[in-house]
Amino acid sequence: MLAAMKIGVPKEIKDGETRVSLTPNLCRRCVKLGAEVLVEKGAGLSAGFTDAEYAAAGARLVKTAKAVWSDAELILKVKEPLPSEYARMETGQALFTYLHLAAGPELAKVLVKKKILGVAYETVEAQDGSLPLLKPMSQIAGRLSIQIGAYFLQTQNGGSGVLLGGIPGTRPGRVTIIGAGNSGAHACRMAAGMGARVTILDLDTRKLELLDEEYRGAVVTLVANPGNIEEAVAQADLLIGAVLIPAAKAPVVVTKEMVNSMRPGSVVVDIAIDQGGCVETIRATSHHAPVYKEHGVVHYAVPNMPALVGHTSTIGLTQATEPYVVAFAEKGVRRALEEHRGLARGVNTRDGVIVNAAVALALGYQG
Ligand SMILES: NC(=O)c1ccc[n+]([C@@H]2O[C@H](COP(=O)([O-])OP(=O)(O)OC[C@H]3O[C@@H](n4cnc5c(N)ncnc54)[C@H](O)[C@@H]3O)[C@@H](O)[C@H]2O)c1
Repeated sequence: MLAAMKIGVPKEIKDGETRVSLTPNLCRRCVKLGAEVLVEKGAGLSAGFTDAEYAAAGARLVKTAKAVWSDAELILKVKEPLPSEYARMETGQALFTYLHLAAGPELAKVLVKKKILGVAYETVEAQDGSLPLLKPMSQIAGRLSIQIGAYFLQTQNGGSGVLLGGIPGTRPGRVTIIGAGNSGAHACRMAAGMGARVTILDLDTRKLELLDEEYRGAVVTLVANPGNIEEAVAQADLLIGAVLIPAAKAPVVVTKEMVNSMRPGSVVVDIAIDQGGCVETIRATSHHAPVYKEHGVVHYAVPNMPALVGHTSTIGLTQATEPYVVAFAEKGVRRALEEHRGLARGVNTRDGVIVNAAVALALGYQG
């Protein structure tokens, strides 16, 4: 008989973050499986879940983050731990959250030093090799990127004053999306739905074929070679960066010269900022100060965009993490990892070593 698994749910502290890693429903399921769940007071409030709901689901509510971190074998989070949380991690503790270590060398050092068993949402794999815990948040970020871009195109927000859908008799706004994966395809759907002229580029021609079939000519698909990118960026009122090489730092596909070729007041939304960004002029921003201008172009690069819609995002995220959280609660962390190959692919750090090859390479660690 296994000792009861202790799962800790701290309140997220990243700027503007509103999601929580566990809903009351999932908490109830874990408790039924014999786990003990510690939830920091107020952790779910910004996502629409009250302390009373967690208590009714069998959670033990604790006053401070410190009390959660110091007493749990497995910490469930949404965003990567921030510097103020580094000291809270207990040696050997397991952590299940987005880590994005390729863009976070400082955090990687801490996880290695403290021998944290770091399981990253973004590298957990489904049987077909896809990334099931990245998918829902990418879909949300993709959909949001167009409404955010539309907002910053407004004159009063520093934009060029282009209405994406235009009106009859005017040219609609032009949206260029680089990357036709989860976030890119969902950005495409929103932009096309608004009536913008959409061009979407990817290296993977199968993705372009699917979009071509779906939109039947209403969206232009292009292979993401430098010439096509250069042309499509220069024409864009709104440029969306949505590329990903799993676990690696994002490739820079848009140079500063290309950004310079955009019309003043055009907008760049670089969704890939959590992996370092795919636009040369991009640097991370936050919900409090989401944009800056460079070369006359508005740049938006918030690494936790789904926090803008905390309720939907929490439901989307926890529905995806549920099978894995349940496996941890039921079997304990190490056995769950032994029995689920796809979940084990999420392990980025273990016993003081970076075990994910792409992350190790990106950070310059020896294998
Ligand atoms: N900022 C946020 O809040 C937020 C939220 C969710 C996801 N993300 C990030 O968005 C990024 C995209 O995620 P996704 O789920 O859409 O990935 P995905 O794997 O579904 O799609 C990425 C696409 O990029 C393409 N690609 C790779 N290299 C390319 C290149 N050089 N040129 C053109 N295309 C290229 C791939 O072929 C793939 O189709 C990731 O970094 C992810 O972590 C950010």
